[in-house]
Amino acid sequence: MNAQNLIDTAQAIFAGDKGLLAMDESTPTCHKRFAKLGIPQTEEMRRAYRELIVTAPDLGKSIGGAILFDETIRQRTSAGVPFVQVLADAGIIPGIKVDAGAKDLAGHPGEKITEGLDGLRDRLKAYSKMGARFAKWRAVIAVSDDLPSRSGLEANAHALARYAALCQEAGLVPIVEPEVVMDGAHTLERCLAVTDEALRNVFIQLNCQRVQLEGIILKPNMVLSGLACPEQASLDQVAAATVTCLLRTVPAAVPAIAFLSGGQSAELASERLNAINVRFKSRVPWAIAFSFARAIQQPALEIWRGKEEHVSAAQQALLHRARCNRAARRGEYTTGMERT
Ligand code: 13P
Repeated sequence: MNAQNLIDTAQAIFAGDKGLLAMDESTPTCHKRFAKLGIPQTEEMRRAYRELIVTAPDLGKSIGGAILFDETIRQRTSAGVPFVQVLADAGIIPGIKVDAGAKDLAGHPGEKITEGLDGLRDRLKAYSKMGARFAKWRAVIAVSDDLPSRSGLEANAHALARYAALCQEAGLVPIVEPEVVMDGAHTLERCLAVTDEALRNVFIQLNCQRVQLEGIILKPNMVLSGLACPEQASLDQVAAATVTCLLRTVPAAVPAIAFLSGGQSAELASERLNAINVRFKSRVPWAIAFSFARAIQQPALEIWRGKEEHVSAAQQALLHRARCNRAARRGEYTTGMERT
């Protein structure tokens, strides 16, 4: 492992207030989103959609890295250029999702464990040869009155740390993603408590597995009220709760925190990222950035709907969201940007 290379990669992704575009939906997730819009669920449609994304003009002005899926890292444009090459030419660093998805955790009704450690060392080597410079692994943490369990949190944190150590050994920056999901009627305070405990477990395990914190990217959820909670927290409450939680749990050695969007609307995700940066950017030791999938892609997907004649308008919608989130990193996003 060359530690300096890891640090350089993590810095390069977020330089110039850019962020990450997550476009690593597994085939079933991609098909679920296609089905809602009547888009045919075929390999060619998945390829065409990903081509729309990677060829969007000027994407590299707001996006420093793109997380790909196993199928996508092997695909090419209709003109035969590998997507990895198109991204590199646009100044966007390619990365790869390497987990094999969240499965039921035995003995823990309602909880998940993320799989994919077996054979990971060899897969990381292969992805590195294909041009990936970072990787992603997502743990899913559900919230209820009595979930998550301590053992569920520990199992997921352990898997994240084993993955992160293997990534660093292979020279890839691990994106460490423990996602406390928004589903449920829990309050902001409950989300804060669960996220706090999840992150504490993650950093204990990262340290146990000798992961170098300067060479990771943390991808957490924002601290939010559950989707079904009758009292939805304000922008300021979300910003304060999120930063309070991160300051208590995330060591200053971590270079960057890039939030997932988790099903928030695209505009709310930008507003909240902006509020966090406006109020706290000068007071936190890490870059506060984004690694959104739905909050960047969804408006574009809804315009495209599988139609060649909508590609250009869909690309404009994608670029708009990428620009809004870059502005939010600077604390310069306003809802007025949505009307221009
Ligand atoms: P969302 O931004 O849609 O939550 O996706 C981020 C991601 O990469 C989930 O693993």
